[in-house]
Amino acid sequence: MSKNIAILCSGGDVSGMNPALKHFVEYSLKKGLIPYFVYDGYEGLIDNNIRQASYKDVSGIIIRGGTQIGSARSKRFMQPEFREMAKKNLDTLNIDMMIVLGGDGSFRGLDVFYKEHGIKFCGIPSTIDNDIHGTDYCLGVDTALNIIKTSIDSIRDTASAFRRAFVIETMGRDCGYLALISAITSGAELCLIPEVAYDLKSYEEDFKEQIKNGRRYFIAIASEGIKQESQEIADWFEQKIGIESRVSVLGHLQRGGNPTIYDRLMAYKFVTHAINGILDGQEESVICYSKKGFEFKTIDEVTSSKYELDLDLINFL
Ligand code: F6P
Repeated sequence: MSKNIAILCSGGDVSGMNPALKHFVEYSLKKGLIPYFVYDGYEGLIDNNIRQASYKDVSGIIIRGGTQIGSARSKRFMQPEFREMAKKNLDTLNIDMMIVLGGDGSFRGLDVFYKEHGIKFCGIPSTIDNDIHGTDYCLGVDTALNIIKTSIDSIRDTASAFRRAFVIETMGRDCGYLALISAITSGAELCLIPEVAYDLKSYEEDFKEQIKNGRRYFIAIASEGIKQESQEIADWFEQKIGIESRVSVLGHLQRGGNPTIYDRLMAYKFVTHAINGILDGQEESVICYSKKGFEFKTIDEVTSSKYELDLDLINFL
């Protein structure tokens, strides 16, 4: 068996990837392996942008968001001829083990690659959307939630000063996790997520009554995946509730920033399990985390079903 192991980041970057890269290098070396970085996701695999990594490459990166080795969403990797090129590049460097930080789309591509070319891999769920079936936690989520929390706290200051409603739009693609957790933990008055049907009309009487009773502002959290535009919700506040309103789209702010302690620690734990798993014979797995602890799941388990948000959480709203 070769001792060469590579890591790459695929899809949307998350804060926590850099701590994962640091630990990947350190832990690989500790286990007698030779670590390699693949730059710019599967694109780098195809273009042979693969280099041996050392302690020097990861010095000081633990505090940084993004990823030192870049990430990408590769369309080319979906085509067999490019996967063939990727395999040749790995063969030249004698690499037959890979760790991939990414979401379920990235893992699906990797599974095809394994089935065609036998490159062993372990996926580490990494997306701020927290929408991967089979794992309760994806790397980067805690940092994103903390950025949202800080943003909402700041917006609350100006909302209360001006007697306004703020519609704050969070990322998450089709998953309302970021919006729901943020709404609960920031005490928002309204939370709209794709998983739950809503009728704005049902809030009208109550919200108007609250204003009569002295409420000065509203915080509404809207997940980017809902059908309505955030501006439509702001218009509803103005027209039906009678309060001036503004929209604040948090956007890519949520993806960057200094990784939280939790994400740094989870990065270390995910990487340790992933490397141990491959060395112990896991050939095509994703390392997942739930109340039961860490466990390996197959790509099919992770990608065949849609992630289901724990809707009991809505009771906390
Ligand atoms: O999947 C992560 C994510 O940040 C989603 O929340 C968002 O919908 C999307 O990526 C944004 O993608 P891009 O960075 O390509 O604009």
